[in-house]
Amino acid sequence: MYKILGIAGSLREGSFNRAALRAAQSLMPQNAQLEIYESLGEIPPFNQDKETSLPKPVKELKKAIKEADAILLVTPEYNYSVPGVLKNAIDWASRPYGENAWENKVVALMGASSNMLGTGRAQYHLRQMFVFLNIHTLNRPEVMIANAQDKFDENGQLKDQYTIDKIRLLLESLVEKIEKLDKLKNL
Ligand code: FNR
Repeated sequence: MYKILGIAGSLREGSFNRAALRAAQSLMPQNAQLEIYESLGEIPPFNQDKETSLPKPVKELKKAIKEADAILLVTPEYNYSVPGVLKNAIDWASRPYGENAWENKVVALMGASSNMLGTGRAQYHLRQMFVFLNIHTLNRPEVMIANAQDKFDENGQLKDQYTIDKIRLLLESLVEKIEKLDKLKNL
């Protein structure tokens, strides 16, 4: 059974991105399970003075990333980019130098916004960061949930069939990528 760690970059109670992550949990392929990371709000602001003795929530985040076969990041878009809380967690998990928890990880992206572009700009900023972090980012499909307020019902249930199908395809592609990389490792 493959273990996927799901991280949503919003702390908002009624967050569309957290709702999209919950939807993904119910759409997983049979040979994988999605564990949702719920402690983003506990990660302190990054301080390089503390990276030699990492705060406990950061140690736990790094452990969860390392133990996962892949990570599903669900990002909101703030001011055409990645929300600070998510960037902050990504930065912590990459430190100290030489102990980057993201190294060689497989990461899939999706995002939901109230705007027409569905977090495309934030996702492309993440892709750029992931080059430096040496992440295997899944290229396709791109899941950009535009006008999110129309795609979820009042209980945060994803109701848009097109989006449901896209997320299912993303998860299938993610598991295929893990399997391919596993085969290469065993050659
Ligand atoms: C936004 N929003 C937004 N949306 C977008 O598509 N592009 C953007 O650049 C921004 N900028 C932005 C900045 C800030 C500070 C906030 C609070 C919001 C709107 C955003 O898409 C919307 O609030 C989403 O609902 C946020 O995601 P969650 O919290 O619902 O997951």
